[in-house]
Amino acid sequence: MPDVNSTVRFLLGNEPVEIVLNGQSGYLPSTTVLNYLRSLHDHKGVKEGCAEGDCGACTVVAAIPTDSKTLRYVAVNSCLVFLPWLHGKQLITVENLSSDKNLHPVQQWMVEHYGSQCGFCTPGIVMSLFSLYKGNLPADRSTAISSMSGNLCRCTGYQPILDVAVKSLQSVGKDQFSAKEEEVAGYLLSLQSQSLELKSSIQLYHKPGNLNEALAQRKNHPSALLSTGATDLALRQSKKFELLPEILDLSGLQELDFCREEADCWIIGAGTPINDIWSKLGKSIPVLDEVFSVFASHQIRNLATIAGNIGSASPIGDLIPVMISLEAGIILKSNSGEREMPVEDFITGYRTTELKPDEIIHSFRIPKSAISHTIRFFKVSKRRELDISTVSMSARLEFNSNGSIDKAILAFGGMAAKTSRASTAEKYLKGKEWNSETSEEAAKLVTEEFNPISDARSGKEARKIMAGNLLRKLYVETTSNIRQDA
Ligand SMILES: Cc1cc2nc3c(=O)[nH]c(=O)nc-3n(C[C@H](O)[C@H](O)[C@H](O)COP(=O)(O)OP(=O)(O)OC[C@H]3O[C@@H](n4cnc5c(N)ncnc54)[C@H](O)[C@@H]3O)c2cc1C
Ligand code: FES
Ligand code: FES
Repeated sequence: MPDVNSTVRFLLGNEPVEIVLNGQSGYLPSTTVLNYLRSLHDHKGVKEGCAEGDCGACTVVAAIPTDSKTLRYVAVNSCLVFLPWLHGKQLITVENLSSDKNLHPVQQWMVEHYGSQCGFCTPGIVMSLFSLYKGNLPADRSTAISSMSGNLCRCTGYQPILDVAVKSLQSVGKDQFSAKEEEVAGYLLSLQSQSLELKSSIQLYHKPGNLNEALAQRKNHPSALLSTGATDLALRQSKKFELLPEILDLSGLQELDFCREEADCWIIGAGTPINDIWSKLGKSIPVLDEVFSVFASHQIRNLATIAGNIGSASPIGDLIPVMISLEAGIILKSNSGEREMPVEDFITGYRTTELKPDEIIHSFRIPKSAISHTIRFFKVSKRRELDISTVSMSARLEFNSNGSIDKAILAFGGMAAKTSRASTAEKYLKGKEWNSETSEEAAKLVTEEFNPISDARSGKEARKIMAGNLLRKLYVETTSNIRQDA
């Protein structure tokens, strides 16, 4: 019998907390961690700015056991995290940072560097800094910029904050949490594989503790909404105020959290957060480094997964064109077996896929042969950091030994109801040399080939021009040393 219960258990700072989510506690299973904290009289440091993952004012840190002795400290947007996600974790907020009335080093540095003015953003910024202090990312300014891109500040200016971020990255991470790390990790680990079955009169929430249970739940509850990182799903509640009647939460399943290298491919588990994939495979698969560097924010990437990106089948999901250009496969699992298909065939239309009601996305296969070819990703968005695409392109060019193009894949986001290939331009390029004339002709074909819509992000004509220009950019960047910012 699996160990199923209706009580979410975690540490708030160093205090054990138990919340029985059976309809009596006043919280729904999908109550966000932000709303939970704001309901407590002594944890109001956390702020709500946008409730959609954009401002970082709600940033908190979760310490997650990696084994029975060590913890990993991840910054997340508490406005996008449901309460059950905390099960088996230590939640650390700005109230927990100081010890013996001494500020935590990152707080002290914020004071010394004049890093705060009105202070609205400061608790979120301090928590992001704390996660850098406790992590082991490279201690350089570009890592500081990318790690702080999910925290907006409207008055101080970013220089002092980035100075503190670099200092935090340089530190060895010792503080009052270090002394208790082993004890905390041991306690939390014992909770990690427990299953939760949370039922209120208006909502049912399943959080299985292992893959077999997850597949059984999927079969028994085919209409439950699936989530892994929940950065997409949570918006339906936090922004659209929808009640999500039934949720099957696949986060935290050990069997889905891996990156494995095989002789001819890499396999990436559906539950692996994007930041983990980036650190493990970013060097081996350069196009992943390109796309992840302009993907959401540090906090979102700590939760978001490739499965959620492909599974939501958004026409502007950045990873869909990339996976198509890598000719990646998607592995689907159900109680009755496993099947694999190209990611390209999995997406059938606007937010529709081949997923059957008893299946989940298990993993992705990226063939190693892909990286011997030219593969580049470009994204046009209103901001470089933390913005979704207006138009994107992931392109692959395979060359013959005589230098002409053997095969081209030009996968575009934002140009149709689903990620689509510019097949006329692809056919045109086959057998041609890659030079200024052929790339220009292909760019014109791309412009003519699509019939995109106009929406809040862009007019139709502008989209067409952008798509053509991305091909021109591809030519410039693949034939010279010039590298332009997307
Ligand atoms: C502030 C913000 C910025 C963002 N920026 C970007 C960006 O730059 N680029 C971009 O592409 N996206 C962006 N997103 C969208 C989102 O973060 C990504 O699409 C992310 O990859 C979703 O992953 P997830 O695990 O959080 O998905 P979830 O919310 O967990 O899932 C989304 C959907 O995918 C399906 N799904 C999830 N897991 C599975 C599974 N294992 N099996 C089957 N189906 C599954 C379900 O239908 C589910 O509803 C942003 C979102 C926010 C809030
Ligand atoms: S409130 Fe803005 S990111 Fe959560
Ligand atoms: S200090 Fe005012 S918003 Fe950052």
